[in-house]
Amino acid sequence: MSYIIALAGKGGVGKTSIAALIVKYLLKNNKTPILALDADPNSNFAESIGINIDDTIGSVLADFLKNRGELPPGMTKQSFLDLKLHQILKEGKNIDMMAMGAPEGPGCYCAANSILKDYFEKLATNYKYIVIDNEAGMEHFSRKNNSKIDLLIMCSNYSLKGIKTAKRLSDLVDALGLEIKERVLIVNQTPEQIDQGILEEIKKTGLQLMGSIVSDNLIEEFEINGKALTELPDDTKAYRSIEMLLNKYIN
Ligand SMILES: Nc1ncnc2c1ncn2[C@@H]1O[C@H](COP(=O)(O)OP(=O)(O)OP(=O)(O)O)[C@@H](O)[C@H]1O
Ligand SMILES: [Mg+2]
Repeated sequence: MSYIIALAGKGGVGKTSIAALIVKYLLKNNKTPILALDADPNSNFAESIGINIDDTIGSVLADFLKNRGELPPGMTKQSFLDLKLHQILKEGKNIDMMAMGAPEGPGCYCAANSILKDYFEKLATNYKYIVIDNEAGMEHFSRKNNSKIDLLIMCSNYSLKGIKTAKRLSDLVDALGLEIKERVLIVNQTPEQIDQGILEEIKKTGLQLMGSIVSDNLIEEFEINGKALTELPDDTKAYRSIEMLLNKYIN
């Protein structure tokens, strides 16, 4: 069974950066093969782990539905879509990548969505770890998928308001009815020492604090220069933070 790690949290709190750091950790510790799944329609998870993607599940489904009557001769709907979906899976060394892209818009997509669910379930069995970068409240992901999540990481920035928002989003995730084995909070871009007031606010939310990731200029620098975060040096402050946290959760 694969171990599924999903990231959620308000815009700009560092979900994609943390997802990329997690991928770096898994690669470095031979926790492979990995599937990186970008479930944020506007995300850049692929770039942050140095993979180029052309097509997304959304674009394939949209095309498929548009050309409904024009299946290649001898092909069933199911086999055609399976083939297309296989083509959008970017295969790398020890890691594959897939992006969901934008939702397909109005119309009935029930058949396509159920093919997609089956496909994902089959695909998932090929990987030891699956890392999913989501949009804020994970609605997009949950619509297409009903698999369990082993570790849901709610991300927050370093502020009282941020912690409250993370709690609110965490409650929204509950409404989706996903099976979540363990749910934790990561506070990102912190100073070396976390303020007592923030710790008290975290306590009030009842969320389990996985830990914090310090603010690291090198992440910004890599972002500005379009460099993959998986290429960050191992002794980078932020990577050392994530390494310490994951050592406790992933064995
Ligand atoms: N620990 C950190 N130290 C310094 N900068 C960071 C850190 N984590 C993230 N950043 C910077 O914060 C910005 C937002 O990060 P990121 O894109 O990962 O957030 P996000 O939650 O995925 O955003 P979105 O909701 O837009 O997808 C980026 O410019 C990134 O470089
Ligand atoms: Mg992002």
